[in-house]
Amino acid sequence: MELEDSRADPGREDDRTSALVERLFQDAVGALELYTIYLGERLGLYRALAEGGSATSAELAERTGTAERYVREWLEHHASSGLIEVDDAPAEPLARRYRLPPEHIPVLADSNDVRYAAYKGVDIVRAGRPLPLLVEAFRTGGAPAPLPSEPEDEGGRDYNRARFINLLGKEWLPGITDVDRRLRAEPAARVADVACGTGWSSIAMAQGYPRITVDGFDLDEGAIAVAQQHAEEAGVGDRVTFSVADATAPGVSDQYDLVTIFEALLDMSRPVEALRAARTMVFPGGSVVVAEELVQEEFTAPASDLDRYYYGWSVVSCLPGAMGDPQTAATGAVMRPSTLRRYAIEAGFRDVEVLPIETDYWRFYRMIP
Ligand SMILES: C[S@@+](CC[C@H](N)C(=O)[O-])C[C@H]1O[C@@H](n2cnc3c(N)ncnc32)[C@H](O)[C@@H]1O
Repeated sequence: MELEDSRADPGREDDRTSALVERLFQDAVGALELYTIYLGERLGLYRALAEGGSATSAELAERTGTAERYVREWLEHHASSGLIEVDDAPAEPLARRYRLPPEHIPVLADSNDVRYAAYKGVDIVRAGRPLPLLVEAFRTGGAPAPLPSEPEDEGGRDYNRARFINLLGKEWLPGITDVDRRLRAEPAARVADVACGTGWSSIAMAQGYPRITVDGFDLDEGAIAVAQQHAEEAGVGDRVTFSVADATAPGVSDQYDLVTIFEALLDMSRPVEALRAARTMVFPGGSVVVAEELVQEEFTAPASDLDRYYYGWSVVSCLPGAMGDPQTAATGAVMRPSTLRRYAIEAGFRDVEVLPIETDYWRFYRMIP
């Protein structure tokens, strides 16, 4: 193997090399932390600490139906990492009392809070499962073979739930004046929520606008089944319906005042066809609103942390998910505004408008007919 000559400036090389070693060590600390967060989330350890207050390892094990020795190791890890606190750290491990600082409760224990991030542990574990199959997919160029089985109800598909419930019908759509006006007006507006996943965006729109009806579509049968259940539980089951349908051929046209696509075009193998279908689904004068990742306008290296984050998801999950279709656009998670504009124009729109809705993670677009 021919390596670049590092002897020209050995001091600089040593610095860069040590920095990289340190960086990978810190990455491993972070990865392991997310695995332990997966366990805390799955086992209800955070919720038990938040609701029941401080606990010894035995008390927390008792509250959560878990084994004390495992829980003790988890608590010691979390306290040593600063994720939880330990009261005065007595020398006797079984006597130590641990608590969740109040500032950490929204992030680790309250899934209704927009700052809730414990799902990241779940997402990272789910994303890791197909990696051995992805090695082979890199060689063949296709999609990774499906996993033989995955744990049911891991909650990972609800990652956008808190955002939708707290912001979609309360801030984001009210921020688009003409859309907001139409959704409040008579006759009751009809909304199509394309690639709605487990339905939280559809539910949040119905909650924010008590007159409207929403039809949610997604290819994923499992997601659609739980979406209907979520809608009933949220009390909007009479105005929100869900069905399994491909965004590229939903089988409806000219029926909607608003068509939304949230964080899903990038996952689709045929985004142009999906946009073309969305164009035929709206009444004249209706709107197609899309939200996708807030990536930089251009490729840069090194890039922002957000671009790094979305590239990470792209490599391990979003791009592979779209590679099974021989006609795939192979977009990946880093779909820049120029790419979306190109897709929109190919789909028959005149242009794309970036909407003035500020978030740290998404950019909102409206397709201009
Ligand atoms: C990242 S998820 C977003 C789900 C939902 N919009 C949300 O924000 O929670 C992307 C979704 O796109 C769906 N999807 C991908 N390709 C699709 C297609 N051709 N037609 C319908 N849904 C599709 C997937 O099943 C998945 O639910």
